[in-house]
Amino acid sequence: MHRWEEAGRDPDRIALTWTGDPATSIAISWRTSSDIGEAFAEIALSTSEPRFDFHSSRQKAKTESLELSSIPENHQDEVNYHSVAFEDLKPSTKYLYRVGDGGDFWSEWVEFRTASDKSEPFSFVYFGDAQNDVLSHWSRVIRAAYAKAPTAGFFLHAGDLINDGHFDEQWGQWFKAGGWVHSSIPSVVVTGNHEYRPLPNREAGTRYLALMWQPQFQLPTYDVLPTELAETVYYHDYQGARIIVLNSNAMHEQQVEWLDQRLEENPGEWSIVTFHHPMFSSGKNRDNQAMRDLWKPVLDKHKVDLVLQGHDHTYARGHIPVSMRTNSKSQNVQTMYINSVSGPKMYEFMETGWDVYAPEGVVLDRSAENSQFFQVVSIDGSKLTYKAFTANGLLYDAFQLIKKSNGPKRISRLPVDVDKEYRYENTGPYGRGPAKAITK
Ligand SMILES: [Fe+2]
Repeated sequence: MHRWEEAGRDPDRIALTWTGDPATSIAISWRTSSDIGEAFAEIALSTSEPRFDFHSSRQKAKTESLELSSIPENHQDEVNYHSVAFEDLKPSTKYLYRVGDGGDFWSEWVEFRTASDKSEPFSFVYFGDAQNDVLSHWSRVIRAAYAKAPTAGFFLHAGDLINDGHFDEQWGQWFKAGGWVHSSIPSVVVTGNHEYRPLPNREAGTRYLALMWQPQFQLPTYDVLPTELAETVYYHDYQGARIIVLNSNAMHEQQVEWLDQRLEENPGEWSIVTFHHPMFSSGKNRDNQAMRDLWKPVLDKHKVDLVLQGHDHTYARGHIPVSMRTNSKSQNVQTMYINSVSGPKMYEFMETGWDVYAPEGVVLDRSAENSQFFQVVSIDGSKLTYKAFTANGLLYDAFQLIKKSNGPKRISRLPVDVDKEYRYENTGPYGRGPAKAITK
């Protein structure tokens, strides 16, 4: 077992999320060895003084033990997860918190900022699948994203965060790759197919939500949704935008009405919907037609602005024009659909692009193969700016949407660093490369 994989008395795998309003609350979860049976979180306003902690308040954590031993690949039998939700915080305010056992074993004090309770400008980061070799080959991507957008309101992960949802060591990689970024910036997490895996001690042929998902991410739940979808379908309102997370793995039909209502009542100017399986897949034999038949009419009805997805291990961005009768050169956009990938696993793009979806009215604008990406989305009143960066920081795709009082969105393409479309043919080899010489 790796040292960073082993749970100890010191808190680790600290994740920020929300169960309530991002302007006035924060949820924190962390992990310890099972001998820490009681845990606490402390919070204080962030000030310049070193003894800000004199003014801190303490809240007892909810502690649950998690049995890992049903999976042979897990090296620990049991660990404890702890969680606290702080409510009644001040909007647009920096706080410091720490988590620990109330005695000798504490995390450092970590700063975060609550959202504004108004429609103020903000940015967030969006990642497609990290999934494979998360520590060795994805860490650079989340670190580059943090360097590019250190004041991001949240980091959104569009599913397949790791490859084997029940494997503790892989979650250890995810937390080590992101380190204190995960404890400083709230995550909006989406379940992918790799977060649903069989369990050896349960019904054969059934896939179960990753054992760690609910203990390690505190997320909203709703009585009107089936319990099977708990903490996988939820929304947040963030400074004038509504971010809706769907679960594209199962029960599509049971999410339709909930989605429709959340979009109907959206108090913000922008609507962003995220789920794992793409509405318009970039790969052969990977179409998700049943999901498209159920969800696309709802997204169309409400003219959802952005749809953020993963799963295809290629980059694809395309739009639905305002009217299907409008020709494809239309400068007015109804919905922008994006499939992206942040980790190192790569697939091929269909040679025909998205032509197969032409009857749906969608137009493919930009694509890539064999490249890792992260995206920064910025919203400022009626203007949305989208930038897709390669893992090494080149701007690959960028546009701006200007919204006219909930009417059509005018798009303008922004200049980028890379003009060509990355393909296997014009990028480096993928797969097992030549043996590397060892230099002294
Ligand atoms: Fe996937």
